[in-house]
Amino acid sequence: MSIQYLEKERIFCLHTPNTSYLLGIVAQEGFLGHLYYGKRLLDVSGAQYLLRLEESPFVPEKNDRDRSSFMDCFPFEYSSHGVGDFRESCIKIRTAKGHAAVNLVYVSHEIKKGKGKLAGLPATFGNEGEVTTLVITCTDPVTKLNVELSYSAFENVDVIARSVKVINTSGEALWLEKVMSACLDLEAREYDVLTLHGSWARERHMERRPLGYGKTGVSSLRGESSHQEHPFIALLSKNASQTEGEVYGLHFAYSGNFLAQAQRSQFGQIRVVMGISPEEFSWKLESCESFQAPEVLLTYSAKGLGGMSRSYHDLYRNHLIRSPWLHKKRPILINNWEATYFDFNAEKILNIAKESAKLGIEMLVLDDGWFGNRFDDNRSLGDWQVNESKLPGGLGKLVSEINALGLKFGIWFEPEMISPESKLFEEHPDWAIQIPARRPCRARNQYVLDVGRKEVRDYILKQMFVVLHSANVEYVKWDMNRPLTDIGSAALPADRQGEISHRFVLGTYEMQECLLQEFPNLLLENCSGGGGRFDPGMLYYSPQIWCSDDTDAVERLAIQEGTALLYPLCSMGAHVSVCPNHTVGRSTPFATRAMVALAGTFGYELDVTKLSDAEKEEIPSQIRAYHAFHDLIREGTYYRNASYQENHDYDCFQVVGKGGKRSLVFFTQVLATPNEHSRCIRLQGLRENVKYKVIQVNLNKKELLTDAGKVVSGSILMNAGMIVERPWGDFQGRLYWLEEC
Ligand code: GLA
Repeated sequence: MSIQYLEKERIFCLHTPNTSYLLGIVAQEGFLGHLYYGKRLLDVSGAQYLLRLEESPFVPEKNDRDRSSFMDCFPFEYSSHGVGDFRESCIKIRTAKGHAAVNLVYVSHEIKKGKGKLAGLPATFGNEGEVTTLVITCTDPVTKLNVELSYSAFENVDVIARSVKVINTSGEALWLEKVMSACLDLEAREYDVLTLHGSWARERHMERRPLGYGKTGVSSLRGESSHQEHPFIALLSKNASQTEGEVYGLHFAYSGNFLAQAQRSQFGQIRVVMGISPEEFSWKLESCESFQAPEVLLTYSAKGLGGMSRSYHDLYRNHLIRSPWLHKKRPILINNWEATYFDFNAEKILNIAKESAKLGIEMLVLDDGWFGNRFDDNRSLGDWQVNESKLPGGLGKLVSEINALGLKFGIWFEPEMISPESKLFEEHPDWAIQIPARRPCRARNQYVLDVGRKEVRDYILKQMFVVLHSANVEYVKWDMNRPLTDIGSAALPADRQGEISHRFVLGTYEMQECLLQEFPNLLLENCSGGGGRFDPGMLYYSPQIWCSDDTDAVERLAIQEGTALLYPLCSMGAHVSVCPNHTVGRSTPFATRAMVALAGTFGYELDVTKLSDAEKEEIPSQIRAYHAFHDLIREGTYYRNASYQENHDYDCFQVVGKGGKRSLVFFTQVLATPNEHSRCIRLQGLRENVKYKVIQVNLNKKELLTDAGKVVSGSILMNAGMIVERPWGDFQGRLYWLEEC
């Protein structure tokens, strides 16, 4: 078992293959203290001393007159509120009498094999051989609030999943005002903080900065995880790079408002907390009711950022994504959004489908505009009936014609939204999230539906099911194109209005769960104005998420680098689009665009009927490359060799197959520079004593591998490097295939 309780020392030891996590109970008062998280320990003897309980004057029973000096520096496993610890608290309540304090002490614990589900929430999973769970019950003796701290240690991946359940045994109602899902108190050491930031069309750029005194963090109050800040925070030792140094990562499996924060105290100690943002949150707990907070995925790597990335990739591929599509090659799709926007009819779509079928594309996805009176983005969200003036004969007719061409069919929805100009809004204006007497803020001229309400969810799902049962639909793109504002629900009493944002997320999860139960083989792709809801919570429902509305190959280098810091390549929605690019106006070579999209789910988002013959000739080679390499890209191990986000010059990463026998190296030189030497890039993940044939792949010729290649040892490739000739021209991608010879 990877979790033990040492009775005499009163210490819990959690182990993953390369890490250990230790926490202990303070005998006198029952506080839970954090002892250690880091490299796997061979022997934990004497670990209790890390709590510094001998150090007077900090121990309460030795110095009750200065109790706060203990409370304000003890490494709490889950911090209390209002009783002397002035650092960030994890839990805060409002009792019927209006008091906020909570002070938790140990009551009991249980260690069991496996890992339970979290009611209504996405969560990692594993069988009894793969994961062990420790549940510690604590209580606040005054309010009788019980808190269960849950820790699941994985046997085959360096991750500990943490979550918290709060149970009201006080005998009367109380209000939860804050419930963090995890707290990590670390020794006073120098760290950098790494977070991800962005904007629409510029998602997940990395920012690294020194952790100073006070609070540093990211959060979202947009009702979704957001383009702007990501539910992730990492602490890095000063020397941490891709391959070396210590990294602590916390990633939140939740798709709504969040807080991820690191704090350096007066004594230099570090506290990291992660959970639902306490702003816009309050939850009424009747007596005997409980609240389940979402899960935080905690990892420690002694092998730099690369180690952290690979742990998250393995976790998500093996213990989070449930879709039957996870290990399957996804159909190469063509999406009509950038091809037609709202200006399409059945004939246009069929022409795109016909041309696509000839080129080897496998699925047509009909994006926004097929329903209601949706001729532009000002109307009709909520009216999910096929617009027969655009698609005469309905979806059934269109899809059977597309299927007859040998293509699968997929369709777009934005289920959580309502247009003020829609039949739905005429009938149910109170279904929009809004505050009485306040005109709700419009975004893309739409409002957000109150999907926390069951009748709203049922109504929308019913309409979706009618559409999806009317034709052979094998893929759904689930979009969400605006944040939540004007938080008010017509269905909740005054003292529950603070529940709306979380209820919204739970409602979305429930809708996606129902959709998948009704259509178990459906390939679901989540999306939110591009990658505004790319988070582990959504991955539990969909194996892939649209990474960004920016399909420019150069912009995508940075976006996909930041995304792949945490997510496996097989989850990143990526398409080839036309030039000049619709978002940035840049023109890049067709082969480079294909190479960049090959590092994700791969598809096209353009009007194939308008491509030149020369471009059309390249598509079958790109498709051959997808078929040849995608098993490796989907299942392989990811290594980053150069960061375009940092060097603003070139990008390089690798995927390596099992046993290090095969690898693909993706290299892009962004701008050409004169009079420069070729580059020599150190590869990773290969076997030193194996000789590899290094072949440059042709993405624009009939045969992919015509290059005679060079034979080079793994030792040379990893320690000296792989020579990459300077490409001629801007935006030049190079794909290399390495195989053991
Ligand atoms: C969002 C998506 C796009 C497209 C449009 C349709 O912006 O990210 O891919 O589906 O909505 O309105």
